[in-house]
Amino acid sequence: MAIFYNEQTQEFHLQAKNVSYIFTVLKNNQLGHLYYGKKIRHRESFAHLVKMQARSLTSCVYEGDLEFSLDVLKQEFPSYGTTDFREPAYQILQENGSRTTNFEYRNHRIFNGKPKLAGLPATYVENNEEAVTLEVTLYDSVMNAEIALYYTVYENMNVITRSAKFMNKGQEKLNLTRAMSANVDFSDADFDMVHLSGAWARERHVKTRALETGIQSISSARGASSSQQNPFLALKRKDAAENQGEVYSFSFVYSGNFLAQVEVDHYNIARVTMGINPFDFNWLLESGESFQTPEVVMVYSDQGLNGMSQTYHQLYRTRLARGEWRDKIRPVLINNWEATYFDFNEAKILEIAKEAKDLGVELFVLDDGWFGKRDDDTTSLGDWFVDKIKLSNGLGSLARKINELGLQFGLWFEPEMVSKISELYKEHPDWLIHVPNRRQSHGRNQYVLDFSRKEVVDYIYEMMEKVLEEAPISYVKWDMNRYMTEIGSAALPAERQSEVAHRYILGVYDLYERLTSKFPHILFESCASGGARFDPGMIYYTPQTWTSDDTDAVERLKIQYGTSIVYPLSTMGAHVSAVPNHQVRRITSLETRGNTAYFGMFGYELDVTKMTEEEKKTVKVQIDFYKKNREVIQNGTFYRLESPFEGDGNVTSWMVVSKDQTEALVGCYQVLARPNPGFRRLLLKGLNTNYEYQIEGRNQTNFGDELMNAGLQLENEFSGSVPHEHEETGDFTSQVFKLKAVQTEVISHKRTEEALEV
Ligand code: DGJ
Repeated sequence: MAIFYNEQTQEFHLQAKNVSYIFTVLKNNQLGHLYYGKKIRHRESFAHLVKMQARSLTSCVYEGDLEFSLDVLKQEFPSYGTTDFREPAYQILQENGSRTTNFEYRNHRIFNGKPKLAGLPATYVENNEEAVTLEVTLYDSVMNAEIALYYTVYENMNVITRSAKFMNKGQEKLNLTRAMSANVDFSDADFDMVHLSGAWARERHVKTRALETGIQSISSARGASSSQQNPFLALKRKDAAENQGEVYSFSFVYSGNFLAQVEVDHYNIARVTMGINPFDFNWLLESGESFQTPEVVMVYSDQGLNGMSQTYHQLYRTRLARGEWRDKIRPVLINNWEATYFDFNEAKILEIAKEAKDLGVELFVLDDGWFGKRDDDTTSLGDWFVDKIKLSNGLGSLARKINELGLQFGLWFEPEMVSKISELYKEHPDWLIHVPNRRQSHGRNQYVLDFSRKEVVDYIYEMMEKVLEEAPISYVKWDMNRYMTEIGSAALPAERQSEVAHRYILGVYDLYERLTSKFPHILFESCASGGARFDPGMIYYTPQTWTSDDTDAVERLKIQYGTSIVYPLSTMGAHVSAVPNHQVRRITSLETRGNTAYFGMFGYELDVTKMTEEEKKTVKVQIDFYKKNREVIQNGTFYRLESPFEGDGNVTSWMVVSKDQTEALVGCYQVLARPNPGFRRLLLKGLNTNYEYQIEGRNQTNFGDELMNAGLQLENEFSGSVPHEHEETGDFTSQVFKLKAVQTEVISHKRTEEALEV
């Protein structure tokens, strides 16, 4: 790990574990990009990588010089309007109407560690030796403004993080109309673009498409990162695949409106830009003010998508998630939402909790409907006090009774919302996000509170603090169930109305920061109609997120597979629910529902009191199995083996391997039964070639090399030849294999030697 600066050539060379990133100060004192990719050795000068040539119909910077044009140069943090016609990293509107800027290199510093980003989530270091940071300051003398570009290089990972800070040091008012966090001009465009797209109940499906000339992008303008698009984008070489080849990826540590864009220009240069969505964004920067952009995490992999994912998993699990619960083993929970919806009382809750305890559950989560007069979704959001009709003895009493049963108690909130039928709305009708004289659109009968206002955040903080102090609460599910419309704030002047969406997210982060600091023992799980805000920004405050409202085991294969592209298993809430499934009405076996939910932070979301004795037995076995293996699931290395997005999508498989490679869990799933199929072997990954593994339930062992190369022989499927009742036949089948090393290296070497002697 190092950051080199060559004073003569004014070149910067950032080296992470296996990555080089090089840029230089150009002749016009702006920054030019030279290289991003596999680590290359450092040399005195990379100036030969700056290529220029006079070209027809090119605009040039200097009179008499037909070569120096930003149109043909790769840039580090480009602006529009001075010979580069591509979309820029930023744009600043000045008082005289000009949008032209000239930010020149002023100075830089290189230091160990990584500074925090004020008010924003970001990756961090635990000691200053883990990373080195470069801060480059650029200066525009006409505006008297600075941009600081931050680059942090992690020692043991192929990670470079980026952000930018805009500072108005002059007297005039500046308007940031575009303020992206990172830009990379690649030297070609021979890539496929990979992104995660979907909708409610089918979040984060993997999409892959070839880059084409022009602009291609994904974005959100919904006020949340959204279930439609995830703030992530990767460029994959044409020959790259799951386990091999080069991938360059960009993940945005932000939960609001974003843009991830690739512009392929007329010279086949791919410009990647990522940041807050400039659409409907403007930030007024008065004299002396500054604006910090959120962070982009760039991961390079020469081991395909899996290599990329493993880097994100490691970074996000250990250096983005924080607090007591980052490393603590997560409890098996039961949530009453799909069991009761709004229709419950204390007796019903205790009945479910008691049964759940007997089955091995550790945490009971009381979902929506415990507060105000909330019997359906038309009322009470904002009234965070207990509904005494449903819970006549109060919340504290219920929580204590649940504790007495031997379970921890968790509670649902939707802090950012208000219902018009509520005490809160009666008192503060102007606290909604809204604009004057316009209709107020709703989503699920509810309205968004104006979290850009500190007094609103303070008020909600106090209400939540009171609830969390008065009852023994160990877990909070923080929901958010609608996007923003008619975006405006009654508290901001006209010229700051386009700041509301970002200020809102800053308010959400502020509330999270205050609550997680005040209640460090509480496990927070983020949720947004399922996975509409499953993003790195949230992981900073909540180590786990409800992956999707869709709990159907078959749909979950795609959702969890896609989510794993960026996010570790430790962040994915995954529950077994009842059948017919409440989202798609599909009937799958309890085994398959369990086998899918195992690969996440496990729980149940059904009425256990309605289960048959046989089903309860299965649930007991499942919980027992999960508890035995959850350390590996939470902290192990995850490998995707077969993709539901490839071929006919009929099979999915994945596995997780313990850090010391002595244990592994393999999950294989088949959607539809096939007639008279061939025998299948599954090629495993990540095992130790020299370890001998026992596969639970089989009376034979296999070495790691065999399992990874010859493969794991799967069970027979139904072949039609004899009547048989093999459990694993039919549609929606699955199997989970547990592998445990019985012999490790030293012994196996000895055995090999013995075998050779014989
Ligand atoms: C949406 C969430 O995703 C569900 O799990 C549940 O909490 C409901 N909201 C409650 O209204």
